[in-house]
Amino acid sequence: MNTAVITGASSGLGRGFAEFIDASCAQIDEIWLIARREERLNEIASSLVKKTRVFALDLTQASSIGTIKNALSESNAHVSLFISAAGYGKIGSSSSVSDEDTAGMIDLNCRAAVLCTRAVIPYMRAGDRIIEICSTSAFQPLQYLNVYAASKAFIYNYTRALRNELLPKGIAVTAVCPYWIKDTEFIGIAQNDGEDGRASGVRSFPLSTTAAKVVKRAMAASGAGFAVCTPDIVSFFHRIFAKILPRTVMLYIWDLLRR
Ligand SMILES: NC(=O)c1ccc[n+]([C@@H]2O[C@H](COP(=O)([O-])OP(=O)(O)OC[C@H]3O[C@@H](n4cnc5c(N)ncnc54)[C@H](OP(=O)(O)O)[C@@H]3O)[C@@H](O)[C@H]2O)c1
Repeated sequence: MNTAVITGASSGLGRGFAEFIDASCAQIDEIWLIARREERLNEIASSLVKKTRVFALDLTQASSIGTIKNALSESNAHVSLFISAAGYGKIGSSSSVSDEDTAGMIDLNCRAAVLCTRAVIPYMRAGDRIIEICSTSAFQPLQYLNVYAASKAFIYNYTRALRNELLPKGIAVTAVCPYWIKDTEFIGIAQNDGEDGRASGVRSFPLSTTAAKVVKRAMAASGAGFAVCTPDIVSFFHRIFAKILPRTVMLYIWDLLRR
């Protein structure tokens, strides 16, 4: 059974990937949907044509990784496609983002993403694909998104290195690095409800893209075996400028843009 495993499948990009794979990936027989909200996952599962399995799991809990490992081993699944889309961010000054969210971003965006990836790799073979949803924030430090951007830099670097480790096995690994996406739940969750709220962070999201565009471009980049996918114009140029300009200059540019 060729299986696609998707984390963060209850909304936004994860949901978009599930729908895209259901409609366009004939070689996939079954889709595993992973996130915390079971009702949402069941709703999405029932709207898909392909066979599905729903895993209502909080990936920041160590036992959740064990549940995924057990399910993979019991079903002896062949994971043709793994998409790590579970993630969240909080906008705000260091003092306005809680300890819980600060640790939560690291736990989900770094620890859980790596452990889920490690869990599926033994069930993959040549021709299979891994897509790690990173962010354009991986390309530079960002004040008022400091932990989120650092967590994405971590997963970006992990993904780039993993790709080279898995090349001899013929498994393609792609880091997808979108700029703001306007039609997912991410921005609403990211707008910090701490004491100084939005005033301390990012106030506008110009040129933001859509989940459908990101999914389509990410799937094409992964199919073509690209190491990195910058699925929109802002992330495309951001990646180039971040390589050319000094970090200090990039931090000043971000300070102008975030206002
Ligand atoms: N939207 C943007 O502007 C943007 C830009 C660049 C990168 N990204 C990245 O894109 C990825 C997808 O985000 P999105 O825009 O699609 O936002 P989203 O709609 O909020 O989706 C996030 C997904 O992660 C799941 N999730 C959150 N906490 C979880 C936990 N503890 N355990 C398991 N699942 C959890 C959520 O489901 P439950 O709440 O049901 O658990 C949801 O399915 C994230 O990694 C994000 O960092 C987003």
